[in-house]
Amino acid sequence: PRRVLLDCDPGHDDAIAMLLAHGSPAVDLVAVTTVAGNQTLEKVTRNALAVAELVGMDVPVAAGCDRPLVRPRIVAPDIHGDSGMDGPVLPAPRRAVDRRHAVELIVETVMSAEPGEITLVPTGPLTNVAMAARREPRIVPRVREVVMMGGGYQVGNRTPVAEFNVLADPEAAHVVLNEAWPVTMVGLDLTHQAVATPDVRARLAALDTPAARFVGELLDFYGATYRTAQGFPYPPVHDPCAVAYVIDPEVLTTRRAPLDVELHGALTTGMTVADLRGDEPSPDECRTQVAVTLDPARFWDLVVDALGRVGEG
Ligand code: BDR
Ligand code: CA
Repeated sequence: PRRVLLDCDPGHDDAIAMLLAHGSPAVDLVAVTTVAGNQTLEKVTRNALAVAELVGMDVPVAAGCDRPLVRPRIVAPDIHGDSGMDGPVLPAPRRAVDRRHAVELIVETVMSAEPGEITLVPTGPLTNVAMAARREPRIVPRVREVVMMGGGYQVGNRTPVAEFNVLADPEAAHVVLNEAWPVTMVGLDLTHQAVATPDVRARLAALDTPAARFVGELLDFYGATYRTAQGFPYPPVHDPCAVAYVIDPEVLTTRRAPLDVELHGALTTGMTVADLRGDEPSPDECRTQVAVTLDPARFWDLVVDALGRVGEG
């Protein structure tokens, strides 16, 4: 299985990403790190521990940066509620947060594994991952790849052109996109194809397990805020798309393209810019790629299969 470190800000869809990584036999989830994003660091860390508790996930959960590198913190209560994961009653965590700072845990995990072994999957603002690359530059060539949920080459959500995770810490995104590791950007162009339709909801309900009920309750709240705040009939679940790509690269198509983030725009700060002109560059010429088209049936099969496998805490 692929060894994955998930850096997240749970977050309804982050929680689903955690459960997908935990339940999939194709993934060995080695650690979960948290970062301020959808809510404060304290809240998202509590949420991560609650998800771990629900399914008996015995991996270190370490808290990281409580604010972006440069800019004031933004949070997303309009989508994720006051707790960052409103909806279900959260189990009281018995597991304690790891003593290490998330940045140290990322560095230790990568440096103690074989080169090319660890895949980093950030599904929140990129603060921790950028800090880790600066704290210990030797991690960069050792990481197998970074599969990030964030950005979008055609559309934004927090602004017309900027996606939340990138807008929250654009300088961190700049570091991650410009380091010498392979990056796959699973952006809104892709994740807006991963929609929790009534059919999907019925498949989850049929599982009739605590984890599936938990996800159902998450989707009730998240579906309602997505309808009101973003005008979506059914909610897109962004973060598990990045995990799904690690499990099964065939779940989506990619296009290799130079990629960077706007840091100074009057209207466009936080916009990810992909250069899609001309022929697709080769992997030697270009380390970054964007996710383009999802196979939704294949994606939801992975989610349903993983949720069917996770146990109880
Ligand atoms: C991203 O922002 C957060 O609200 C979600 O968890 C996801 O990571 C989507 O823009
Ligand atoms: Ca997230």
